Amino acid sequence: MRTIAIGVLGLGNVGTGTLQLLRDNRDAIEARVGARLDVRAVLVRDPNKPRDVELGGARLTTRPADILDDPEIEIVVELIGGLDPARDHVLRALRAGKHVVTANKALLAERGEQIFAEASQRGLAVFFEGSVAGGTPLLRSLREGLASDRIEALTGIVNGTSNYILDAMTRTGARYEDALRAAQEAGYAEADPTLDVDGSDAAHKLALLALVSFGVRVDPGAIHREGVTGIDPFDIKTADELGYVIKSLAIARRSARGVSLRVHPTMVPKTHVLAGVHGSYNACLVESRALGRSLYYGRGAGPMPTGVAVVSDVIEVARLITGRASHEDAGARLLPKSGAQPERVDPLPLDELECENYLCIHVPNQPGVLGRCAACLGRHGVSIKRMFQEAPRGDAPVSMVIFTESVPERSVAAALAEMSTFDILSRPTDRIRILDPDTID
Ligand SMILES: NC(=O)c1ccc[n+]([C@@H]2O[C@H](COP(=O)([O-])OP(=O)(O)OC[C@H]3O[C@@H](n4cnc5c(N)ncnc54)[C@H](OP(=O)(O)O)[C@@H]3O)[C@@H](O)[C@H]2O)c1
Repeated sequence: MRTIAIGVLGLGNVGTGTLQLLRDNRDAIEARVGARLDVRAVLVRDPNKPRDVELGGARLTTRPADILDDPEIEIVVELIGGLDPARDHVLRALRAGKHVVTANKALLAERGEQIFAEASQRGLAVFFEGSVAGGTPLLRSLREGLASDRIEALTGIVNGTSNYILDAMTRTGARYEDALRAAQEAGYAEADPTLDVDGSDAAHKLALLALVSFGVRVDPGAIHREGVTGIDPFDIKTADELGYVIKSLAIARRSARGVSLRVHPTMVPKTHVLAGVHGSYNACLVESRALGRSLYYGRGAGPMPTGVAVVSDVIEVARLITGRASHEDAGARLLPKSGAQPERVDPLPLDELECENYLCIHVPNQPGVLGRCAACLGRHGVSIKRMFQEAPRGDAPVSMVIFTESVPERSVAAALAEMSTFDILSRPTDRIRILDPDTID
């Protein structure tokens, strides 16, 4: 039987799961591919670190050239993470004629144009199922399962760390800092969680979802993002009392005017399907023209779940090599349908968005304050749907809660900007957009 040699860059969480699955399912994979998959070498930083997986015949190396310059290696699996040196390794692998599998969303969202162009020119594959929603076969479903449909919108919980934190705050009433610490202790948040909690990781994934679903390339830096760090237990409790949960959503929608992309905390009605996505799970609600709504749900991270996605990609690439799958323009197969090069677009400005909002204004318990804030909202055309205030306790500031009608983003922004100049605010106003269950917007 033919052997396909593989080089793996990185043996951390995902690398370990990947090697484990390749070993555990060796016979089934061989039967599917028509070749034996042989991991020749694994690149790491520290060769003396204890590893949680049996390496078999693979050797650990700290020299990238042992993989990238080995003419026998046909598939390089990049699981180092980050931009550098991952980008150089991936480009070097492609230039040496090797197919690439990666779970690195930051790399593909930030530097994908160069990488995909290099792959496409050479008829090589760059597959990246593990980069969005971990093991849940979301990209494959969008690319293959919905190939006969037109995807109009996606609303996703694509960052398990943020979801875990918000979920813990909802269940226990914990403050953000305490929920983050619990997430770190449970292994659901990195020591430096910045990219997860500030919305950057979700923005990277949203850029890849827009590429696969809409065939457009977007600079992830241009995607509007708000993190979960400002969410207060009072917001969570108020949301709960009024029938909502707060979720960090990544939302993509295309219209005749263009593509809108955004990541921000959102109040989701408890009856909505995304309200039931708990802990570190991921989910993506897709709206496509013919099928309507479909939901993709599963574990968004972890060695074995992400390993499942990576190994599925390795199998697909290996089938291209053995001729069991079509080799025709493998580099473009990740692109939607036709394989046409994606158009580079700027996301629509957020100003164009209209939605209902939750505002929590923190003010002293004094006569006239309410009227001043309400008048400010009115001046900017922000209509109030309902409002209430918690019972005052002595001289302590009170939290005034306002739900707005569906109003343009620019009106809310202008009202909040004016209000921020008021000397009466005891701290900045909290604002959370509300999901409209009818439009999934
Ligand atoms: N963790 C998840 O659940 C998850 C889910 C989806 C996608 N991803 C993506 O998968 C990728 C890998 O994530 P991970 O969590 O597995 O990372 P990780 O646990 O930090 O592992 C990184 C591995 O790469 C090696 N490495 C790092 N820099 C290197 C360098 N300059 N030269 C050689 N080796 C280097 C490390 O070597 P040492 O072991 O010697 O330190 C380690 O084995 C990332 O792109 C991440 O975004 C992860």
